[in-house]
Amino acid sequence: MPEPLTVSFPPAFLWGAATSAYQIEGAVREDGRTPSIWDTFSHTPGRTAGGDTGDIAVDHYHRYRDDVALMAELGLTAYRFSVSWPRVQPTGRGPAVQVGLDFYRRLVDELLAHGIKPAVTLYHWDLPQELEDAGGWPERETALRFAEYAHLVGEALGDRVEQWITLNEPWCSAFLGYGSGVHAPGRTEPLAALRAAHHLNLAHGLGVQALRSVLPPRGSVAVSLNSQVIRPLSQHPADLAAAVRIDDLANGVFHGPLLHGAYPATLLEATSSLTDWSFVRDGDLRDIRRPLDALGLNYYTPAVVSSVETAPEGPRSDTHGASAASPWPAADDIVFHQVPGERTDMGWTVDPDGLHQLIMRYTREAPGVPLYVTENGAAYEDKVDDDGRVRDPERVAYLHGHLAAVRRAIADGADVRGYYLWSLLDNFEWAYGYAKRFGAVHVDYATLARTPKSSALWYGRAARSGQLPP
Ligand code: NOJ
Repeated sequence: MPEPLTVSFPPAFLWGAATSAYQIEGAVREDGRTPSIWDTFSHTPGRTAGGDTGDIAVDHYHRYRDDVALMAELGLTAYRFSVSWPRVQPTGRGPAVQVGLDFYRRLVDELLAHGIKPAVTLYHWDLPQELEDAGGWPERETALRFAEYAHLVGEALGDRVEQWITLNEPWCSAFLGYGSGVHAPGRTEPLAALRAAHHLNLAHGLGVQALRSVLPPRGSVAVSLNSQVIRPLSQHPADLAAAVRIDDLANGVFHGPLLHGAYPATLLEATSSLTDWSFVRDGDLRDIRRPLDALGLNYYTPAVVSSVETAPEGPRSDTHGASAASPWPAADDIVFHQVPGERTDMGWTVDPDGLHQLIMRYTREAPGVPLYVTENGAAYEDKVDDDGRVRDPERVAYLHGHLAAVRRAIADGADVRGYYLWSLLDNFEWAYGYAKRFGAVHVDYATLARTPKSSALWYGRAARSGQLPP
C-alpha cells in the first residue's frame, strides 16, 4: 500500500532551490571577471535563441540581498548556487581575485544570517575562456587547473560552507559541449567528448582531494550528476542492447569510475572505433574514485530508446536541443522516442516515477551514501495576470508529483536528505535563452522585478510544514 501523501518528510530534510552563476548573476565584466566559454558562445551569432546572453541575466550579482530575503520569506531552508570560475580565477590559473571571492563570502553570510544552508557548486559550465583556448576539457591540464581552483574556493569559503559539489552535470559539459555542440564551447567532435568526460571525472577526483585538504572535518563533498533514466522501447534484444549502450554513455561513463573504480567494459567496447581510451593514465581511476560524502541527482525526464532497426514510425524526441550532430558517440544506430504523457514547455515528459527509479538505483549502487535531489523542476509559459499574480498550477502539480516520488523513495529505504527545486528564479536557460521559464519566482526581464509564482508559495508551505500541501 503506498503511504498517504500527507506523511511528513524527515525533520532535517532540506527544502532548497538551485541556481547557477552564469544563468543569474550578470555583471560579466565587473570586478575583474573575464569571459567564460558561455560568454563567448552566447555572443556568437546563431548559438542561442534570440541571441540572448548572460550579460545581465537577472542581475543577481547586484540583487543578491533581495533574493536571499525572498528565499527566507518563502521559507526555504537551503540554497544551491555556483561559483563563477572566471570571477575568482580569471585566467584559470594563479592566485584568486579577492574581490571575486568577496561576493560569495557576502552571499553566504547573508544566507546564514537568514538561516538558509548554502551548498556550493564549483563548476556549473562556465570554464574560463583561456582554458578552452588551451584545449578545454578534452585536455588533461584542465583537470589539474580545476583542482587548483577548488583549493582556492575551499580555502576561502570552507569556514562557512558545509556542502560542496564539485561538478554539475558533467554529461552536459562533455557531450553537449564537445559532442552535439549545442552548449559551449560548441564543438562537434565525438572523441573530444569522450576525452572531456574522462578529464571531468579526473577533475572531480582531484577536486575532492583538494577540497578535503582545506575543509574542516564537517565539510561534505559531492557531485551532481544528471543520471538519466533510460528505458528500452520493447523487450526485443536489440532494444535492450540499445538501452545498455545509452545507459553506459549517459550514466556508466561517470558512475563507473566514480563509484566502482572502472569504466564499464561494454562502454569501452562500444566506443572502440573512436578510441582505445589511452588518455586514461595509470592512477587516474584511483584518483577519481574518492569516497563521497553525498551524491547529487538532477532529474527532469526519462528517455526511451530502441535500435534503429526495430524502431516503429512515431515521434522522435530531442531533449537536448536541435543539432545536426549527436551527443551520443558511436550510437548512430539508436533512436530516441518521445515518452508518452504530459509535457512541459521544454517538450520533456512529466514522469515522477523516473525520479523514484533513479533514487532507488543510486541507493543500490552507492550504498550508505546520502542522496540529495540537487535539481528538479519544469519550464512553463508563465505570465503575470492583471491582478499582478503568476498562477502556475502545472508547476505545482509537477513539484507535488516529484516530491511525492522522493517521499516514496524514502519510505522504500532511500536516504534522501534534501531537494533543491530548479530554479529559484526564471533565468538564462542556456541555448534557449530567456524563452524558457524554470523559476518558482517570475522575473520580468524588462524591469527585473521578481514575483513569486503560486508554485513558490506552495513550495514554501511544504518547506514550513514538512508535508506536501494539497
Ligand atoms: C540542468 C542544468 O544544471 C541547469 O543549468 C539547467 O538550467 C536545467 N537543467 C534545466 O535545463
